[in-house]
Amino acid sequence: MTLNEDMRRLVAAQGLGFVATVRPDGTPSVSPKGTTEVWDAEHLVFLDLHSPGTVANLLENAAVEINVVDPVRRKGYRFRGQGEVFTDGATYDRVVRRFTEQRGTDPERVKSIVLVRVLAAEELISPAYDDGASEADVSTRWRARLTAGEAGSAPDRKSSS
Ligand SMILES: Cc1cc2nc3c(=O)[nH]c(=O)nc-3n(C[C@H](O)[C@H](O)[C@H](O)COP(=O)(O)O)c2cc1C
Repeated sequence: MTLNEDMRRLVAAQGLGFVATVRPDGTPSVSPKGTTEVWDAEHLVFLDLHSPGTVANLLENAAVEINVVDPVRRKGYRFRGQGEVFTDGATYDRVVRRFTEQRGTDPERVKSIVLVRVLAAEELISPAYDDGASEADVSTRWRARLTAGEAGSAPDRKSSS
């Protein structure tokens, strides 16, 4: 499938994906990857800097799902696909070069790169919208709550989802 403009914008803006893979014993594994980016119209990519579990799982079973969510707008996408691990070669070199040029990533830190062919994507929408709240309402409420959290004060429990 092709990643649409909204998906591309969200992934670029958030720069954080929660990557789910399947362990050899069939149990789930989820871990965050701050290097999650759109690679091209059909692929996401992330760097293996400290992800031995995710990479080992993908080498056994390519199934992967990545959730990217805007914590203020309370919306996002779940991307389902197939992950391929590269430790060298032309694709590896191109990905590492992009991260080096755009983020100043030290190539020495990159153990491998994971290219994810996205086969399906679904929108994620918080139940915060169930009462007809607008995106502006939800964003205002959550921006305030997250800022209060940063400042160390107790969160407003009314903002529950
Ligand atoms: C916000 C955040 C972003 C992270 N981004 C990455 C990343 O892009 N690549 C990476 O390899 N590890 C990243 N990590 C570290 C891994 O999530 C962590 O080492 C995790 O235990 C790896 O689990 P795994 O071996 O099951 O993949 C990040 C951690 C956090 C908290």
